[in-house]
Amino acid sequence: MSRNNTDAGMPIAITLEPGTYYRCTCGGSNTLPFCDGHHSGQERPIRFEIEERRKVYLCSCGKTQEPPFCDQTCGVALPQD
Ligand code: FES
Repeated sequence: MSRNNTDAGMPIAITLEPGTYYRCTCGGSNTLPFCDGHHSGQERPIRFEIEERRKVYLCSCGKTQEPPFCDQTCGVALPQD
């Protein structure tokens, strides 16, 4: 994931309904944190599925080993829901 994202550095807490999502990784989207088809540079969105409505924490630092989700590599302690 690009470190040039304009929302980089902190996990993004968001509640998502069931469905398919595409996490922007290039930072060029007008609908961050989701892809809108810009794909600036070589970056491509990360497709992921949500099976049931839940709160997620999307990585925006680019260091996670579990994209698109924050794995706390950034140093932010996520709340235990
Ligand atoms: S925001 Fe990237 S690991 Fe937490």
